[in-house]
Amino acid sequence: MPTPHNNAEKGSIAKTVLMPGDPLRAKFIAENYLDSPICYNEVRGMLGYTGTYKGIPVSVQGSGMGMPSIGIYSWELFNEYGVENIIRVGTAGAIADNVELRDVVIGMSASTNSAYASQYRLPGTYAPTASWSLLSAAVRSAEEKNAAFHVGNIFSSDTFYDDADSLAQWQKMGVLAIEMEAAALYMNAARAGKNALCILTVSDCPLRGLSTSAEERQTTFRDMMEIALETAIKVN
Ligand code: HPA
Repeated sequence: MPTPHNNAEKGSIAKTVLMPGDPLRAKFIAENYLDSPICYNEVRGMLGYTGTYKGIPVSVQGSGMGMPSIGIYSWELFNEYGVENIIRVGTAGAIADNVELRDVVIGMSASTNSAYASQYRLPGTYAPTASWSLLSAAVRSAEEKNAAFHVGNIFSSDTFYDDADSLAQWQKMGVLAIEMEAAALYMNAARAGKNALCILTVSDCPLRGLSTSAEERQTTFRDMMEIALETAIKVN
């Protein structure tokens, strides 16, 4: 049965799903990286496709921007469609001094200013964490590619335009980069007993006033995608 946000038939989504924020990016990935992609969802334009990579079934679906949006789509994939692994592939702003434009950042953990964890009524502060199976496979894949990559804590923010200007404080705590989805994805995976990872390409440096052009992002985008696809193969 389809869900309120996804009209895929049960069984039409692969065990491993790559999730870019932008649904048109999902279309691009399906058409350029997967063999024989079939579109399984068009509800709200949140395009989803299943195809194969090196003969292994892989799906790719947009998540939308922000934790409420990825929260909905990843919850349904894990709990309604039997998906085991979700790998977010997105862009991030650099926070740490040694993270440069176009680097790849792999989110081992995701700090957040979101209240998403409050639904679990935990008597303390939860630490959203990537799954070791995916994290270790992604690191091996990045090493095999000789990609410039960092692994560590990322910051999932509810705000893109933030009045408090708090990035310098996150920097003091060793946080590598800012994005807007990973913490909710990691929490949904943990609650469902499934696996999640976030792989990012650095598109801008908010503290240094730098950003890449859309064209410049293509090379790093390729590194990130190849790392994500090779990770999907390793955990199949
Ligand atoms: N902030 C939040 N999310 C982002 C950014 C940023 O600067 N860059 C890419 N995703």
